[in-house]
Amino acid sequence: MPFTRRQILAGLAGLGVVGLGAGGARYWLGRPLVAAEYDYQLIAAPLDLELVPGHITPAWAYGGQAPGTELRARQGEWLRVRFINRLDVPTTIHWHGIRLPLEMDGVPYVSQAPVLPGEYFDYQFKTLDAGSFWYHPHVASGEQLGRGLVGALIVEEREPSGFKHERTLNLKSWHIDSQGAFTDFSVPREAARGGTPGRLSTVNGEHAPTLDLPAGQVVRLRVLNLDNTWTYRLNLPDADARIYALDGNPVAPRPLGEAYWLGPGMRIELGLKVPAAGTQLSLRNGPLRLATLRAVGADTTPAEWPPALPANPIAEPDLASAETLRFNFEWAGAVSTGLAQGAAHSFWQINGEAWDINDKTCADRPIARLQLGKSYIFELRNLSQYQHPIHLHGMTFKVLRSNRKTIIPYFTDTYLLGKNERAQVALVADNPGVWMFHCHVIDHMETGLMASIEVA
Ligand code: C2O
Ligand code: CU
Ligand code: CU
Repeated sequence: MPFTRRQILAGLAGLGVVGLGAGGARYWLGRPLVAAEYDYQLIAAPLDLELVPGHITPAWAYGGQAPGTELRARQGEWLRVRFINRLDVPTTIHWHGIRLPLEMDGVPYVSQAPVLPGEYFDYQFKTLDAGSFWYHPHVASGEQLGRGLVGALIVEEREPSGFKHERTLNLKSWHIDSQGAFTDFSVPREAARGGTPGRLSTVNGEHAPTLDLPAGQVVRLRVLNLDNTWTYRLNLPDADARIYALDGNPVAPRPLGEAYWLGPGMRIELGLKVPAAGTQLSLRNGPLRLATLRAVGADTTPAEWPPALPANPIAEPDLASAETLRFNFEWAGAVSTGLAQGAAHSFWQINGEAWDINDKTCADRPIARLQLGKSYIFELRNLSQYQHPIHLHGMTFKVLRSNRKTIIPYFTDTYLLGKNERAQVALVADNPGVWMFHCHVIDHMETGLMASIEVA
């Protein structure tokens, strides 16, 4: 039996997102643009979900839903979120892919103190870039993201894009058993390999849903990988689909092709020409169906492809003057060494150093110091048999080349570094602070594959 639409069993729904003031209301595509401010009150709280019919999963949710409420902002404007912690554990919010001041970045003991149970924190920043971003805690990430604390943050272009229709697809698998109970978010033998996978895949919190799309129209599909572990090999057989943006940054539109590998934390925006009414398409991960896309409604005159999305204002690295820094990502394997009580496993390291998630002072020892305003080339080398989605906070980098595949240079915050791959990326160190640099397979990050980089 297919999973039915999940139901909210316990009542916290009313505490969800509250738009503050007249400007706080969400606006919908197609309506006239109003100079609006986006003020949200966002609550993290326990929420029982019915992911497996007839069974309760004790999730944690933002705004009464998991994945969390979709936040929307307009490029160039302020986003102000009052975040209230109604969990009984400390937490923070990190804004993945957003270029912002360090004190809003949500990293405990670097950006801010953890938000304690019952407390709140006001996040506010200007959104420099338009695109598909997301938010999640940066505390006990395996469990907190695993239980559902993940959500989309969509920054709309200043001027309307050519898309009249859009849809956000939040991909997440759940670490639950057949009774809906949580299983381990991180198992040592998996953490030392590809990461601990969830067992139930969902799109917008539902297993293999059917989503209706307007027949004959071009729809902007924002596909977000909010998963702890999975790299989705996204494909849409028989569909007329083009890639418009990767990880929040526009690219020259090109066909989706066979498949796109979307690692944890990564996003892809597709333009999809929805076929005639009654037709169904299958959004898949390799051969596995993630969702059915069903064309509905009266066909209209076939829509044209919208033009490319406008580029974001990211500084172009000066490759001629750039200094090259090398980062090796490797297995540090010591699965069976006797660990002191409560000590973290360390299976992974960057340039010979493993991050200790219990050591609050790790960020005081950055593995690289960059000079504010200078350009750098990072040479990323994966010395392991597993892939690592390498993510940097605070700055967007440009992917230049790889020894494994042809790269059309593009800007991103997360690069999926394949097995034994060597890639070069470049950036202008234009945001002062101490920025996390880590693998987004959460149990890799929590077992060593994290570091900090200082820009001053
Ligand atoms: Cu999604 Cu430290 O990041
Ligand atoms: Cu991030
Ligand atoms: Cu990794």
